[in-house]
Amino acid sequence: MNFLVLSYFVTFIHCIWLDTNNDTTIRLAANTVVQGVLDYYEGDKYGGTVGMFSSPYYWWEAGAAFGSLLDYTFFFENDTLVPLIKEALEYQAGDDLNYIPLNQSTTEGNDDQGFWGLTVMGAAERNFSNPSDPKKSWLGLAQAVFNTMSSRWDDDQCGGGLRWQIFQWNTGYDYKNSVSNGCLFNLAARLARYTANDTYVEWAERVFDWMYGVGLLTENEWWFVYDGVKINNNCSNVTKNVWSYNQGLLLSGCAYLYNYTEDEKWLNYSMNFLRSAQVFFKNISGNMVIYEAACQPSKNCNNDQRSFIANFARFLGLTSKLIPQTEETINGWIKSSANAAADWTNWNSTDDNPYGVGNHYDNVYELSALEVMQNVMTPKRPAPYTANDGGSSKSHPGNGYPKIKQNTKPLTLTTKDKAGAAIITSIIGLSIIGTLIWLLI
Ligand SMILES: *[C@@H]1O[C@H](CO)[C@@H](O)[C@H](O)[C@H]1NC(C)=O
Ligand SMILES: *[C@@H]1O[C@H](CO)[C@@H](O)[C@H](O)[C@H]1NC(C)=O
Ligand SMILES: *[C@@H]1O[C@H](CO)[C@@H](O)[C@H](O)[C@H]1NC(C)=O
Ligand SMILES: *[C@@H]1O[C@H](CO)[C@@H](O)[C@H](O)[C@H]1NC(C)=O
Ligand SMILES: *[C@@H]1O[C@H](CO)[C@@H](O)[C@H](O)[C@H]1NC(C)=O
Ligand SMILES: *[C@@H]1O[C@H](CO)[C@@H](O)[C@H](O)[C@H]1NC(C)=O
Ligand SMILES: *[C@@H]1O[C@H](CO)[C@@H](O)[C@H](O)[C@H]1NC(C)=O
Ligand SMILES: *[C@@H]1O[C@H](CO)[C@@H](O)[C@H](O)[C@H]1NC(C)=O
Ligand SMILES: *[C@@H]1O[C@H](CO)[C@@H](O)[C@H](O)[C@H]1NC(C)=O
Ligand SMILES: *[C@@H]1O[C@H](CO)[C@@H](O)[C@H](O)[C@H]1NC(C)=O
Ligand SMILES: *[C@@H]1O[C@H](CO)[C@@H](O)[C@H](O)[C@H]1NC(C)=O
Repeated sequence: MNFLVLSYFVTFIHCIWLDTNNDTTIRLAANTVVQGVLDYYEGDKYGGTVGMFSSPYYWWEAGAAFGSLLDYTFFFENDTLVPLIKEALEYQAGDDLNYIPLNQSTTEGNDDQGFWGLTVMGAAERNFSNPSDPKKSWLGLAQAVFNTMSSRWDDDQCGGGLRWQIFQWNTGYDYKNSVSNGCLFNLAARLARYTANDTYVEWAERVFDWMYGVGLLTENEWWFVYDGVKINNNCSNVTKNVWSYNQGLLLSGCAYLYNYTEDEKWLNYSMNFLRSAQVFFKNISGNMVIYEAACQPSKNCNNDQRSFIANFARFLGLTSKLIPQTEETINGWIKSSANAAADWTNWNSTDDNPYGVGNHYDNVYELSALEVMQNVMTPKRPAPYTANDGGSSKSHPGNGYPKIKQNTKPLTLTTKDKAGAAIITSIIGLSIIGTLIWLLI
């Protein structure tokens, strides 16, 4: 537990006013937060690109944000934003319909692609309004992401695993991280349950076993997911940061597998990850409030890290539907977090208040506020659908391959390509250095 800043104490206690038993109250609070999120959406503004948010949102965070907005339409049965979300998800899919659009293709990592993949998987599971072109079915897009990611599985180094980066010219190509592998694990587990195709179970198992074998999952009293591992020395040097979204990816992935296979081992893993997930909650006089334990207490979370708890909250909500015996614990955490988020969003921004909706002190945290608020509705809404019980999205198990060939080494670059890539890399270099500093601390 040495990665936690245990000396953090809450210096303020505010009155809590959100009535989490009143659906209208929750809906109105969520509507306010959604407006704050949409203020940063560029796609409906003059000169903006469909599917993109303005800074500080990165491309992967846009993918995750559409997952939150999509769930908002589902939880409150409110179709207002459906056309906006649908247009964005279709537009960013790219020419090969696999979320490697040309604009991102030189900088994109496995985790970036993975988060868009999880969002379209969510669209299939929520029976979200289908695209008019049947080739672009949500499920088919998720399968394309799965196919391209699994084709990058790298047996040559450390007996398997996905590298962080897709392309060798990007910093982090020599790092196999939990979020990339966790995305593949989560996606495989969900595809298995949705399609009842056991090939996906085999893949989920392969990813889990590799992560476990290489030491990315701790298994003593606490079950945590470490950040990643450098490939040198056969992946012997694990970077032991712990992030909430990785916990959520593994927890809910295990929950999907248990729900589908009913194999007790996945229940056991789920319960272990869930019990350990309590470190991502701060106990404020008995109320458990979600937070990013490794950076939030010291107010040092970067833009990526600020969005992790939003994803974590979504994965918790899903878990509570897939394993009914987890519902009570998770709902308790979600409700107390929603109260805190409502309280914080109602303030004017201060250094102690990370949320601040009205003046966007930190808009990325708004997604977290939205997720904890809307997941209060989870018990009242259906579980993720499958092809057999309400999901209408069509399967295209062979999608996604055209340009990225299966089982080939990464592209070999010409000198000209390298020059172009170097320019892009130097533009984003600063943010990469920022991320690396965090990885190394
Ligand atoms: C729920 O909240 C709404 C809006 O704040 C309010 O008008 C309504 O009276 C509340 N319902 C109950 C049962 O408290
Ligand atoms: C439906 O969603 C839109 C967009 O967030 C919002 O403006 C509207 O108030 C919502 N409708 C209801 C009934 O809450
Ligand atoms: C790619 O970038 C160009 C130039 O900014 C923009 O016009 C286009 O819409 C972008 N495409 C995607 C899929 O984001
Ligand atoms: C099951 O999934 C695998 C892996 O993507 C695919 O190759 C196979 O065609 C799928 N089977 C069916 C019946 O869809
Ligand atoms: C390298 O690591 C992998 C994965 O942990 C393991 O299966 C393999 O035995 C290791 N190889 C050597 C030579 O230690
Ligand atoms: C492990 O990685 C850390 C961070 O990159 C580095 O400081 C340390 O020297 C490495 N240890 C070994 C044994 O390679
Ligand atoms: C799951 O946990 C229970 C209780 O600790 C234990 O009895 C059982 O053997 C475990 N099952 C598996 C498959 O590991
Ligand atoms: C949270 O703190 C309260 C005291 O404020 C304590 O009674 C309670 O047991 C704590 N809960 C957990 C889960 O640590
Ligand atoms: C799977 O999820 C469904 C929907 O919530 C639930 O009714 C069922 O009990 C779950 N199955 C298991 C084995 O927990
Ligand atoms: C918050 O800011 C608004 C506008 O600047 C101001 O009218 C209001 O009094 C402030 N509220 C508090 C509690 O400071
Ligand atoms: C899913 O969507 C399809 C097509 O719009 C519709 O026919 C079906 O009733 C929906 N299923 C559920 C459970 O709402």
